[in-house]
Formats: sequence, structure tokens, C-alpha cells
Amino acid sequence: MANIMITDKCNLKCSYCFANEFVNKTENEISLENFISAMNFITQDKTERMIGLIGGEPTTHSNFAKILKLVIENEDINIATLYTNAIDIKKYANEISHPKYRILVNCNSPDDIGQDNFNKMCESLDELILFRYMRERVTLGINMYKPNFEYKYIIALLKKYGFKRVRTSITVPNTNNNKNIDAHKYFQSIKEYVKQFYFELLESGIVPYYDCNKIPTCLLSENDYNSFEKFISENRSIYANLRHSDISSSIVRCAPVIDILQDLKAVRCFGLSKYTKIDIGLFSGIEELKNYYKNTIDDFAFNTAYSSKCVNCHNRTTEKCMGGCLAFKIHDIINIRDICNRKMLMKGEYI
Ligand SMILES: C[S@@+](CC[C@H](N)C(=O)[O-])C[C@H]1O[C@@H](n2cnc3c(N)ncnc32)[C@H](O)[C@@H]1O
Ligand code: SF4
Ligand code: SF4
Repeated sequence: MANIMITDKCNLKCSYCFANEFVNKTENEISLENFISAMNFITQDKTERMIGLIGGEPTTHSNFAKILKLVIENEDINIATLYTNAIDIKKYANEISHPKYRILVNCNSPDDIGQDNFNKMCESLDELILFRYMRERVTLGINMYKPNFEYKYIIALLKKYGFKRVRTSITVPNTNNNKNIDAHKYFQSIKEYVKQFYFELLESGIVPYYDCNKIPTCLLSENDYNSFEKFISENRSIYANLRHSDISSSIVRCAPVIDILQDLKAVRCFGLSKYTKIDIGLFSGIEELKNYYKNTIDDFAFNTAYSSKCVNCHNRTTEKCMGGCLAFKIHDIINIRDICNRKMLMKGEYI
């Protein structure tokens, strides 16, 4: 899927936000003309019919209702996911109740966003789920951004609305300092809290799946791994339809999630935005752009290691495990890519 970033503005200031290169740095928002061009670019090679709307907070765009209508009118798009903190979506409920829309709510704790904002988010959820019966099209998500992160509030919301799945992300690094830390140490520091949270979810009949940045399997002990497996296999009827993004899978990789910015430059994802900007006009369509990122970032990612443990790891050499977010090793990825490119040029000279 590809996302369109429609505004830099946001009504929150989450400390973990990986769009922080842009968010609230300016008040840039996408023009309707560029929005239409971005939609056309995503659908023009006919490989993609889904888009995402992101920001910043999309609902702060000054012409958001019009943007929602443009998506509804576009026959090449069949599913559009709105990424939102849900504080202000109630006023757009009419447009987003259109069956094309999926709503992915980033649920922050009341301690982080204040009780007033939390109450507004809950009112929006009531409107969409209880009054407009949109539960099947709404997903709640949590960012696990520090050890000992708060999670009771989201379990209460999941139970209140009867959700059986929840999207979880261990936040990816969002500053140069935390991009250079040892990823394995980072995962170790949060692992016990993630496990505790996951078990409380599973006990409530709610299955977590991860979005970005799954804990590599080598950091889970036999015991950790087996306890999830056991829990899930004993409750197979509840946990039907598990996918590779589920907690017991050993696959730790991400495909290029393309974000198109307001000026029609693309990035491979926010985690790598500083290093991967490129004009979409250079590409014939979304598939060619995805291949570009695969060839210039992803392929090299499997040839870099976070720790000596990764060097001879079967999961790395068979491209099952990238070891977590690529932002942790983006400098190595770029170095190895530059070395390979120089070698290729030298070879050309010999011919
Ligand atoms: C940048 S936000 C923009 C849309 C909207 N304001 C929101 O918060 O959903 C898009 C998505 O990025 C996720 N996100 C933000 N910072 C993250 C991080 N450091 N690691 C992983 N996901 C993150 C949020 O949970 C959200 O689903
Ligand atoms: S994660 Fe979303 S709500 Fe939080 S600061 Fe970033 S854009 Fe705003
Ligand atoms: S590199 Fe992968 S894990 Fe990291 S932010 Fe991008 S999509 Fe998420």
C-alpha cells in the first residue's frame, strides 16, 4: 500500500512520532491538485487499488472533507485507510462512513495526551462504532514507546467495543541518537513489558499483531516462544486466521511502505524518510518505485548485521529476518550500497 501525507500539521505532539522530520515543523498541506496527482500515480500502473491518508493529523487539513470526497469519487481506489489519532474525526463521520474507508486509530493514553483529548477520542469511537456500526472497519493501535508503557486503557477500550485484534508497534527510532543504538539492547529493554501486555491481551481473547518493528525471534527464548505458541494453539478457535505479522511468526521484515509527501516526493517509510526521498515523476508507477526501494535499500539490509549474532544467522541469510527496523542500521545500509556501486563502476572501467 502507499500513503499520501496530506499535512504536516498535528493536534498532538507524540514524543515517539517517526514523522517528526515534518510534523508541526511547518504548516504545509497538500494542494488538491497534488493530491489528485498522488492518487493517480498510485493507481496508474493498475497494481494498486488501496491508499492510506496520513500526516501529521489528516483531520487538520483545511480541506479535509473535499479530500475524503475525492477518494470516494475515484473509481480506481477501492480501499482507503485513514490514519488518525481520532480526536477530531467525529465531524467527518458522514464521509468516512462510506464503505471504502478503513480507520486506523492511534490510541494514546490519557496520561500522554490529556484527559480532554482522550475523552474526545472516545466520543469519536462511540460515534463510529456504536452509532454507525463501523466496528469491522475500525482498528485500534498502540505504540509501545518505552519500557513500562501504559496499556490498561487500550485493553479497556478493546473490551468495550468488542475488538478481537489489536495493532501493536514497538516504536521505531525517531532521532539520530536513537538510530545509532544497538537494536538488540533496545528490544531487550522492552521485551518483558511487551510480553506482559501480550499475555493480558490473549487472556482477554484479543490477538495482538505487529505493524512495524517486531522483536527478532533470536531474542525470544525457547520458553517465551513456546508460551505464545502454546497459548495460541490451545485457543485456536479464538485465534483463527493468524498471519505472518502475528507474534508467533519468525518472519521479521517489512516491505517498502511508500509515503508520498505534499510536494510529490516519496519516501520508503517515515523511519527512513531522511535517506530515501525521491521525486515520483521519475517513475512509471508505484510498482517501479517499490522496486527502486527494494533494489537500493531492502536488498542491502539483509547484508548488514545489528550484532555478531546476526552474521551467521539462518533467518538473515534466507531473508526472513531484517532484525527489526531498518532505521537502526540505515547508515550501514547506505555504506554497503555505496561500496557496491563503486565496485560496479570500477568493473565498467575494466571492460
Ligand atoms: C505518523 S502517524 C500520522 C497519522 C495520525 N496522526 C496518527 O497518529 O495515526 C501514522 C502512523 O504512524 C505510527 N507511528 C508514529 N510514530 C511511530 C514510531 N516511532 N514507530 C512506529 N509507528 C509509529 C502511528 O501509530 C500511526 O499509525
Ligand atoms: S503520531 Fe500522529 S498524532 Fe502523534 S504527533 Fe505523530 S502525527 Fe501527530
Ligand atoms: S524500516 Fe520497516 S520497521 Fe522501520 S519504519 Fe520503515 S517500515 Fe517500519
